[in-house]
Amino acid sequence: MAFEHRKYRPFTPIRKTDRRWPDQVIEKAPQYCAVDLRDGNQALVKPMNIAQKQRLFDLLVKLGFKQIEIGFPAASQPDFDFCRKLIEEDRIPEDVTIQVLTQARPELIARSYEALKGVRQAIVHVYNSTSTVQRDQVFNMDREGVKAIAVEGAREVKRVAESYPDTRWTFQYSPESFTGTELDYAVDVVDAVTEVWRPDQGQPVIINLPATVEMATPNVFADQIEWFCDRVARREHLIISLHTHDDRGCAVAAAELGLMAGADRVEGTLLGNGERTGNMDLITMAMNLYSQGVDPLLDLSGMAEIVDVVEACTEISTHPRHPYAGELVFTAFSGSHQDAIRKCMSKRKATDEVWNVAYLPIDPKDLGRRYEEVVRINSQSGKGGVALVLERDYNISLPRWLQIEFARVVQKEAEITGGEIDSHTIHSLFERDYLQVPKGWRLNTYDLHRTDEGVTARVSVGNGQRTELEGQGHGAVEALAAALEAQYGIRVAVEAYDEFALGEGTSANALACIRIQVDGKVYSAAALAEDTTSSTLQALLSAVARCVEAQAVSQKAVV
Ligand code: KIV
Ligand code: ZN
Repeated sequence: MAFEHRKYRPFTPIRKTDRRWPDQVIEKAPQYCAVDLRDGNQALVKPMNIAQKQRLFDLLVKLGFKQIEIGFPAASQPDFDFCRKLIEEDRIPEDVTIQVLTQARPELIARSYEALKGVRQAIVHVYNSTSTVQRDQVFNMDREGVKAIAVEGAREVKRVAESYPDTRWTFQYSPESFTGTELDYAVDVVDAVTEVWRPDQGQPVIINLPATVEMATPNVFADQIEWFCDRVARREHLIISLHTHDDRGCAVAAAELGLMAGADRVEGTLLGNGERTGNMDLITMAMNLYSQGVDPLLDLSGMAEIVDVVEACTEISTHPRHPYAGELVFTAFSGSHQDAIRKCMSKRKATDEVWNVAYLPIDPKDLGRRYEEVVRINSQSGKGGVALVLERDYNISLPRWLQIEFARVVQKEAEITGGEIDSHTIHSLFERDYLQVPKGWRLNTYDLHRTDEGVTARVSVGNGQRTELEGQGHGAVEALAAALEAQYGIRVAVEAYDEFALGEGTSANALACIRIQVDGKVYSAAALAEDTTSSTLQALLSAVARCVEAQAVSQKAVV
């Protein structure tokens, strides 16, 4: 059997009786380090060229990242060259610190410093794997052996830095595969490293705890972080950093819970590109903070540009459902969602300070998205969405009864085409089924005369060959209905009737909508005109025309 769950073992939970992180709330943004140009780049089918790296670096700076891991210069010539280019062409803003990764090996450490020669400030990030599986199966080493690699690396990092005294150095150590490392051993290794670096004597030190592979639920990761922070030596002098990968799809959640558990900094990439399922997505992390009213200290308002640049540099397209960034994430197709959004948006006042719209956790405008994209129509949509599109794009408001009726027309069309119905098609359908005046039925002139007995309507219909109608009733609609009943030998019952004055931006000033019943069948029509009387009379004429035409067709069928 290939699909055999019994070959896996559950992750052993951390025994903890002093768990505090569940009660914490993230109230400020962490320090961020963007690792797109290193971890992200390492994972690409086609690693970035220098121009792509420069473009992505410039974007990261523009968004407000102050720490950027720009590569692994000791392992890759293009990374070395890019590092030199940034320094020699003075492309690193004063408030930005670049970071380079190196294994804990003397020749690689030396080469990394060479790449960084002349830089104002930099983070030298040294790592070695500490997990049980790596110790046992990859390095064939015991705990002390692996710790010695870390300590030797730390010594070398410190020693070589002394030959570049003009640079402000920060040292960073990662016990790689931290999530697969026994916690007491991780603390032991890190303590040995900081014993060399002495952050308590002024050397800035970052301890980065990677979920190189995400192995358990995010609460377990938070337990690991809290346990570690409680026991590591010199905690108050350390910046504790998190570097989560997304193997179980929870990299952002793990990093968030890790911050609640005491970490200060996160590493990740824009849109989550990175090894296997990717690195923690910095955009989701920052926007999650933003949506809670916390300043993310990044400017992500130009989301379209971010997506464009990331896609151009990674040659990976963004999923349309990607949180905050995907094409469809602010779109509602479902009828009940559309209805709720429409109601909330129409109640929203320009002066409202707090965003509180159903189904939209943040205001799409904040990310440069348009409200027009929010409601899109397919066969799942209902009256609310269809009404919103007509209102939004054509200034046509429909009464509720017609919203229900017309939504069925749109739904039928969507079922036939099987896809999305755009705003233009919705309008054409409305035109076809309601607004279009049947041939020979255009209102030409009218004369309404009111006396104590009621209204007399004289109406001339058609262009060339005209039909003159005359009838009486309590109002204009009743008078014209009476005239039409006499002319065509039918009994017209007006079931629903509404008229609206239209706002600016339309050539017509009034819209009338009417539904009549003749011999148990309903016929609806709408009309746009310059005044409400004309639109009302025309709507009635069009509805009766539909009835007369339908009757003619069914009579023909009988003959
Ligand atoms: O995922 C990882 O562990 C890394 C380290 C080198 C920090 O990328
Ligand atoms: Zn990584």
